[in-house]
Amino acid sequence: MFETIFEPFRIHSVEPLRLTTPERRREVIRDAGYNLFGLHANDVLIDLLTDSGTGAMSRDQWAAIQHGDESYAGSPSWYVFLDAVRELFPFKHVIPTHQGRAAEKILFTAIGGAGKVVPNNTHFDTTRANVEYTGAEAVDLVIPEGLDPAVDHPFKGNMDIGALEALITDRGADAVPAVFVTITNNSGGGQPVSLANLRAVRAVCDSHGVPLFLDACRFAENAWFIREREPGQEDRSVAEIVREMASLADGMTISAKKDPLANIGGWLATNDDELAERCRNLLILTEGFPTYGGLAGRDLEAIAQGLREAVDHDYLRYRTRSTAYLGDGLERAGIPIVRPVGGHAVYLDARTFLAHIPPLSYPGQSLAVALYEVGGVRGCEIGTVMFGRRPDGTEEPAAMDLVRLAIPRRTYTQSHIDYVIEVCAAVAEGAQELRGLRIVDEPAQLRHFTVRFERLN
Ligand SMILES: Cc1ncc(COP(=O)(O)O)c(C=O)c1O
Repeated sequence: MFETIFEPFRIHSVEPLRLTTPERRREVIRDAGYNLFGLHANDVLIDLLTDSGTGAMSRDQWAAIQHGDESYAGSPSWYVFLDAVRELFPFKHVIPTHQGRAAEKILFTAIGGAGKVVPNNTHFDTTRANVEYTGAEAVDLVIPEGLDPAVDHPFKGNMDIGALEALITDRGADAVPAVFVTITNNSGGGQPVSLANLRAVRAVCDSHGVPLFLDACRFAENAWFIREREPGQEDRSVAEIVREMASLADGMTISAKKDPLANIGGWLATNDDELAERCRNLLILTEGFPTYGGLAGRDLEAIAQGLREAVDHDYLRYRTRSTAYLGDGLERAGIPIVRPVGGHAVYLDARTFLAHIPPLSYPGQSLAVALYEVGGVRGCEIGTVMFGRRPDGTEEPAAMDLVRLAIPRRTYTQSHIDYVIEVCAAVAEGAQELRGLRIVDEPAQLRHFTVRFERLN
């Protein structure tokens, strides 16, 4: 009946925001080698670098933390966690880790290796790096619509079924230890995957005897989009849809720092007894005993409660509508974005917006730096800096050059977002003056975290 999007919570505890001047911001970003990961967070006003672990926990999650039991083995908190996970993802084996990439490292150590190939709609940075670290190849097979920021499609995260079939046939099923589907597709604009597409991927996997895994970080937002957009799903609960997504897979990896609403955590799950055994052995080497993995008992409790809150319809309605509100504001300011707006972030199309900066001069990074210098807003380049370096050290433009403004869960209000829109509009006015960057120092893997740049004249 009313148009206003309101936060379905009241604020119970507040944190101060730190104001800085443009002069200070220009100085500190230069000292950080124009890498936003190198900033002291005290110098950031609105931090949209990531939605990972940056959300606000609820009263009930803080209360759950008090129930944390730190027994080394068989903690009651482990069973609370296991029940909450299995309520949504009824896999036989659940292996807790300190965050998503630890689950990926363990799984790909167990199933990867030279000569193997792992298809995904789009690998996220850590997933790709963990596949490649084992010597395996990571191949992205999102539908063509998923690579065109301007095309509207309800499920731009869908896997290209024909391309998947062709890849498995070409390389042989023995070379494909698992097919992955990332829900929602973070590197591709936070775009959802439909149930119909997951069923089709399942059918391809079945016909070749290859297991299907979900990278399920944003499972609840994906299920909400299915409920909103997929014919016949509108009367189902998000929890039911999540269970169906899980039933189509043989296992999953997840970072609990996203939709499970926790500040830390993750897990790996599988129905395969032999694989679980190998993964648990690796877990004990690097993370911890299988009933806590890399987590404290209190973290297991916070995740369990977070999972219950993550599938609440009022929360998900607010979450997706408030992200779309930012996207609408940016479009009004004349900034091209990935359409439609995804669940956890708005992605600015820097390649189109800064067409005068070639991809190998990093238009996304240039735009992200400008947003920080002008208004203290920290976003994240998702483009050629993140994905342009190939394992052999050569470089080529990524599929898209985007700047992701990720919205931490339950953290910023509508007026914070109005401010972000104003900052973006101010940057848009001077966009033609922005220059590209040149890399002066980079590591061999996951370079975006520590790379340093110089401004081009
Ligand atoms: C789709 C996806 N997979 C995996 C990860 C890795 O999770 P973590 O940061 O907890 O290691 C992320 C984190 O951003 C992600 O977005």
